[in-house]
Amino acid sequence: MLRTHTCGELRKGHEAQKATLCGWVHARRDHGKLIFIDVRDRYGVTQVVFIPSVCKEAHDTAQKLGPEFVVSITGKVVIRPEKMVNKDIPTGEIELCAEGLEILNPSEVPVFGINDDVEVSEELRLTYRYLDLRRQKLLRALEVRHKVCSIVRSVFNEEDFVEVETPVLTKSTPEGARDFLVPARLNPGYFFALPQSPQLFKQILMVSGLDRYYQIVKCFRDEDLRADRQLEFTQIDMEMSFVTAEDIFKVTEKLFKAIFKEIKGIDLPIPFPRMTYAQAQKQYHSDKPDTRKKGEEFAFTWVVDFPMFKYNEEEKRWDSEHHPFTSVKEEDLVYLKNGEFGKVRANSYDLVLNGNEIGSGSIRIHKKDIQKRIFDIIGLDEKEAEERFGFLLKAFEYGAPPHAGVAYGLDRLVAILMGAESIRDVIAFPKTQKGNCLMTDAPSHVDARQLQELGLMMINKGRTQSLQ
Ligand code: AMO
Repeated sequence: MLRTHTCGELRKGHEAQKATLCGWVHARRDHGKLIFIDVRDRYGVTQVVFIPSVCKEAHDTAQKLGPEFVVSITGKVVIRPEKMVNKDIPTGEIELCAEGLEILNPSEVPVFGINDDVEVSEELRLTYRYLDLRRQKLLRALEVRHKVCSIVRSVFNEEDFVEVETPVLTKSTPEGARDFLVPARLNPGYFFALPQSPQLFKQILMVSGLDRYYQIVKCFRDEDLRADRQLEFTQIDMEMSFVTAEDIFKVTEKLFKAIFKEIKGIDLPIPFPRMTYAQAQKQYHSDKPDTRKKGEEFAFTWVVDFPMFKYNEEEKRWDSEHHPFTSVKEEDLVYLKNGEFGKVRANSYDLVLNGNEIGSGSIRIHKKDIQKRIFDIIGLDEKEAEERFGFLLKAFEYGAPPHAGVAYGLDRLVAILMGAESIRDVIAFPKTQKGNCLMTDAPSHVDARQLQELGLMMINKGRTQSLQ
């Protein structure tokens, strides 16, 4: 290591010890003879004092320091006089008296201060995301996100789940949004879709006998963006065989209890309250009821028994409310039989936290004939169902076990834990509301040759531009 300690580490107990710190110049105060700098890294800030009589060379170099220069400073830990103690920071009782200073890399004057209380437009923050990520607020959000992921892994591991990666280049999975398409160069005229979720793969893993699957996984949905929606976002995804909804609820409640205990120090009461979709609509006029009472801060509710279908007025047909792989409540099979689709309830459940949908899942269909019937109701004829989902229907012919699962929105969960207004504040490199990455300037043009290789043509403002 180039350093002996981090910038958040030194205390009174280190008095008279020699230390080398590396970090960024957070602030510089030049009092002529004495120059003070605050040097910052991920762990904190330490005050360094440069005194000409201690090391003239270091003092001279310190005069050249600008904000965000990267430096290495060696010196002795000294205790600050009582009235110079800074009670606001953990290293505030000491300072490092510099005996050497090396500038590891100078910096342009940053376009905004790294101080957290400086208001900066989001456009600037996203363009200079590396500067924004140096700020405490975002740094803490990424640390909390990392902690949540490690709790997820440890809870699922304890419960004997296996983490399995599923493909990113895949076939369209309907989750209600538009697909991102990827042209397949080796199969001209054909396209992969980026997964809206690993839904079909996790079900096939159950057919494979994996029994308990989880994954912290990127999902891609081409939909209009909001504060709680991104084009690419992360799910905590899981699936279990030979279970009822109760088993899904139990693992979930264990997981969320562990997360809230560790991150917030809160003992969440479990089991979480439950409410039917009909009750939620009646009482809260919403399927995402905010059940907070005055003062529990985090109110979880399971909303159960969603309608199986919703009527699509535009296309004059029925759509799935959750997705077409959801099973029907036993007692509502009669409505399915009678064609009263509006009355059919699904074995599905959402997890709602303070009025936000943070998770969604269902008991799945595992029989081919029922799956085919649902496809038929939502307007997929036999040929189309075979083309799009033939592989699933085939898998169901080879001993598919009863199974169920759920997926949680990691970004939404971390945003709520951090009190962030938007999930953009808990994602390292998010897209803007308009779906751009301002730092890399994506999406961007590709050159004509790339399109030609893919056998594609641009249709621009009504004009067809042939690339042949
Ligand atoms: P669903 O589509 O409800 O279910 O997604 C699960 C959870 O993912 C989060 N989420 C999002 N977060 C950020 N940006 C988005 N664009 C976005 N879309 C969804 C939400 C949501 O509750 N395969 C099913 C799950 C299952 O049946 O097991 C699925 O994806 O928190």
